[in-house]
Amino acid sequence: EGGSLKNIVSHCKEYGFIYPSSDIYDGLAATYDYGPNGSELKNNIKEYWWQAMVRMHENIVGIDAAIFMHPTTWKASGHVDAFNDPLIDNKDSKKRYRADVLVEEYIAKIEGKIAKEVTKAAKRFGDSFDEAQFVSTNPRVVGYKEKIESIENRLGTALGSGDLADVKALIEELEIADPVSGSKNWTDVRQFNLMFSTEMGSLADGADKIYLRPETAQGIFVNYLNVQKTARMKPPFGIAQIGKAFRNEIIARQFIFRMREFEQMEMQFFVKPGDEMKWYEHWKQKRINWHKALGMKEENYRFHDHINLAHYANAAADIEFNFPMGFKELEGIHSRTDFDLKAHEEHSGKKLQFFDQNTNESYVPYVIETSIGLDRMFLAIMSAAYTEEKLDDGSERTVLKIPPALAPNKVAILPLVNKDGLPEKAEEILNEIRFDFSFQYDAKDAIGRRYRRQDAIGTPYCVTIDHQTLEDNTVTIRERDSMSQERVSVPELIQKLHDKVDM
Ligand code: GAP
Repeated sequence: EGGSLKNIVSHCKEYGFIYPSSDIYDGLAATYDYGPNGSELKNNIKEYWWQAMVRMHENIVGIDAAIFMHPTTWKASGHVDAFNDPLIDNKDSKKRYRADVLVEEYIAKIEGKIAKEVTKAAKRFGDSFDEAQFVSTNPRVVGYKEKIESIENRLGTALGSGDLADVKALIEELEIADPVSGSKNWTDVRQFNLMFSTEMGSLADGADKIYLRPETAQGIFVNYLNVQKTARMKPPFGIAQIGKAFRNEIIARQFIFRMREFEQMEMQFFVKPGDEMKWYEHWKQKRINWHKALGMKEENYRFHDHINLAHYANAAADIEFNFPMGFKELEGIHSRTDFDLKAHEEHSGKKLQFFDQNTNESYVPYVIETSIGLDRMFLAIMSAAYTEEKLDDGSERTVLKIPPALAPNKVAILPLVNKDGLPEKAEEILNEIRFDFSFQYDAKDAIGRRYRRQDAIGTPYCVTIDHQTLEDNTVTIRERDSMSQERVSVPELIQKLHDKVDM
């Protein structure tokens, strides 16, 4: 049994993964703090990403750019003019919504109907059921799919051209009702810029409005030349970065899925113009493989190719994950052309080019971007890991089946009793593993309860020190998911842990 979003939220709080920000003041909307276990897990995700992107590629280097950037950056990037959400209010409930999300939720309902038809047919046809053939030929399903496509196209065209009246017309034609009150009495749609702004310098000496970056990518683009020269890179090469981003999201529901302050892990890959489609396909594959290598069920992932492209892209796809709320975007892979570098050339007056000595030509590189939300990745892991199990003896446990390499604590050291020299022996073992593995030490309560506590925070291995340990230097190692136990010698234990939890 997996968990609902509600169960995951309360589990995260109870076990020190995530708290509402400023909790004693009743929290701050769409802002969260990571607790002791959460910050360990988050750091491990970052490391897993950094290893795969920077360490594994000689032609990718990392940077850590400032959150504050010159205000012209955001004019050049298009964010001042085009980083907007289309908002709509319901006149009766006075609730505010993102117009595009209302339409997407409507589409999700049609997708739900398709899924129902498929389940029904699968039952009817049994082993001979061919899902691909069914969805491409069944008249009802084909009708649903055509409807989805036409709605997506209409929404994309209306948003792309800024025809907000048609977005409203679409909502009215589909008879979309306010999810809270059921009312269909909508205001006009209007644009709302998502960037947070603040002032730099004291007001007295002429304050300047600056923005908190809404994506980390621009810190990479403005450093393109610095990095290319100082790290002596030539295309194809990449620059990777992990850092905070800020968006004044209007609907900020769904826990850490959509936050106002969040973290991104982005990589911009600079290529020769004309090579971008090859590299776009390359990075799509590489990134989905990175996800699947974690061993969370393959059916939890799917690609969603964009028909409606952002202002900077000539191809884009999302990697979607099956969250408790359904399939939603986890990561984006975008072919950004030379849009950003060209725009920064124009606004800064500096050439951002690469001189190719082989052809004696200069060019502005094209960019393939991979962009994943760290917090969203955290939620994906939590969603896949959270499991409520009924055990053979009739008892129940809640266990987080986090991939061992990412688990906040790799091992728990548990002296069977808190006397007879066992704590001292446990301490001795701890000193041997202290620098290799994150761990917990727990000597309180019955051993079964201690196992449950470790299950609940996803610790993959529990090591129990008992009286036999004092005689033959062996311990029991218990595996979280199977709950199976084996006896190993202490030197063997360390090697075993490395084999099981190293990235
Ligand atoms: N540089 C490209 C870019 O920022 P995006 O699709 O707007 O593209 C990339 O964002 C990723 O950042 C998303 O796939 C998502 O994982 C994450 N993300 C975006 N907005 C977020 C938010 N409000 N809260 C949490 N994660 C967010």
